[in-house]
Amino acid sequence: MADMRSIDEMRAQGERVLVRVDFNVPLDGGAVADDTRIRAALPTIEKLVGDGAKVILMSHLGRPKGTGAEPAFSLAPAAERLSELLGRPVAFATDTVGPDAQEKAAALADGDVLVLENLRFDAREKANDPAFSRELAALADAYVNDAFGTAHRAHASTAGVAELLPAYAGYLMQNEVGTITGMLDAPKRPFVAVLGGSKVSDKIKVIDALLDKADTLIIGGAMCFTFLLAQGKDVGASLKEDDWVDRASQMIEKARTRGVQLLLPVDVVVADAISEDAACETVAADAIPAGKMGLDIGPETAALYAEAIAGAASVFWNGPMGVFELEPFAAGTRTVAQAVADNAAADTIIGGGDSVAAVNRFGLADKMTFISTGGGASMELVQGEQLPGVEALRR
Ligand code: 3PG
Repeated sequence: MADMRSIDEMRAQGERVLVRVDFNVPLDGGAVADDTRIRAALPTIEKLVGDGAKVILMSHLGRPKGTGAEPAFSLAPAAERLSELLGRPVAFATDTVGPDAQEKAAALADGDVLVLENLRFDAREKANDPAFSRELAALADAYVNDAFGTAHRAHASTAGVAELLPAYAGYLMQNEVGTITGMLDAPKRPFVAVLGGSKVSDKIKVIDALLDKADTLIIGGAMCFTFLLAQGKDVGASLKEDDWVDRASQMIEKARTRGVQLLLPVDVVVADAISEDAACETVAADAIPAGKMGLDIGPETAALYAEAIAGAASVFWNGPMGVFELEPFAAGTRTVAQAVADNAAADTIIGGGDSVAAVNRFGLADKMTFISTGGGASMELVQGEQLPGVEALRR
């Protein structure tokens, strides 16, 4: 984004550069199970290495208690994976601001890379504690934030430290903010937004914001049942939020007054249990049997949604259409993912979280224009909120 200071503006040669990355990656048996976020940070890391900076990377991983080291949340596997991807050694400090980090940061030669241990082993990170920010800042001469996925958190490593050092946006941060806000500010029309997920309460601000921008808003996932309730339909044992039915009605009304086409399911796949071998059937959206829960959109709905997506010039998608992790309830999400992939002429953004897992599962990731590395962060951006990690980098 034009108004963030870019790493292209910094003189990195010989400087110690503290880089906030989002290496909050899934681990399996002590190894990185999905390295997407590490790969996404490579352009920034490689640029700094190439410029001869002494690169000090910091991140959180998971949600440890904040009372000291917890081996299950160590960043050591991420450092190892980074070393493989960079094809060069990467040092690892067993603390963040303690003696090991200080010693290893001081020993770096130009172009070397060091990864600090999980910031959240210290409770002062999430508290945005000024003393912790000062100790982090003391390790370096300049600061780069490339952790878009954590930009919605006002923590010491994303907000506090940016006040203490010359601060720049890395390439991933620039690309994420620029691409997402670019589509929202000036979408190619028709602009179709596809929202899924389980709760209206989690997505209400996003729905509200997208009704101001989109030409068509498609609703899937369990949150559709709260909308169906608002239309006076019976949803059986489906997940629903009774307290949010009024808000859903308001959104239906807002779509009507703004002339936004709001698409809701016309048929639903129901079962009596969330399991691979549950007996499933497809029913009309106004005929969900008592005791059955809707776990996917039905084929007629999926076809309607795919048709709307096929006619779009830009698509923003967040949230699966059903319980896509289980094959009996995957078809709706698969059809939507395929429709987005097939619309090669459109700008297509996958807004983080489970929809990214879905396009990966269906092998369609390389067909999308842009896949965000930030679930919560991209939602807050769409909602029009200011992200502390971005605000700290503004000129
Ligand atoms: C994410 O995975 O969304 C980011 O890394 C932020 O993690 P958090 O929700 O634990 O702050």
